Amino acid sequence: MKKIAVIYYSRSGNTEAMARLVEEGASSPGDVQVDVHAVGDIIPDKVLEYDGIIMGSPTYYGSMAGELKKFLDGTVQFHGRLEGKVGGAFSSAANTGGGNETTVTDILKAMLVHGMVIQGNPKGDHYGPVSINKPDSRVKDQCRDLGKRVAELVKKVT
Ligand SMILES: Cc1cc2nc3c(=O)[nH]c(=O)nc-3n(C[C@H](O)[C@H](O)[C@H](O)COP(=O)(O)O)c2cc1C
Repeated sequence: MKKIAVIYYSRSGNTEAMARLVEEGASSPGDVQVDVHAVGDIIPDKVLEYDGIIMGSPTYYGSMAGELKKFLDGTVQFHGRLEGKVGGAFSSAANTGGGNETTVTDILKAMLVHGMVIQGNPKGDHYGPVSINKPDSRVKDQCRDLGKRVAELVKKVT
């Protein structure tokens, strides 16, 4: 069975709520195991077990939280071995224009450096779901959609 990890950092629960919705969407096509991990509860080596890796972070000064960056930096020890895995990212910020898209693209850039496969979204949030504080009904749909799209792509390409 294909496996997807949803890995997030969250201090006040907004990004965690998004992670749970991404999990729901990734589980919806079936035949895929989806595991959700807070970044402090998983060591970088564990990502080798997954076919799809989706990461979420609050926006801190226009980029990802240091905790998630540290986790990503820890993946250098197996650089090259994530090639061909499917990636995705999401973020919560406090303000419109507060940098949540730059946070998402920063996470995606790290995934691209790893050689991972990223699918944009021509209809919804183009780079990945972005929320202002806790997810509203629009963001909830975007999060579920990201999970579903990653699960479907994992089945096709991995
Ligand atoms: C250190 C720090 C830096 C932040 N920087 C930004 C920022 O640049 N832009 C923004 O809109 N919100 C910023 N915020 C607000 C958080 O992104 C926002 O509250 C988010 O929803 C928190 O997510 P969480 O509940 O998952 O921790 C910052 C918060 C903290 C603590």
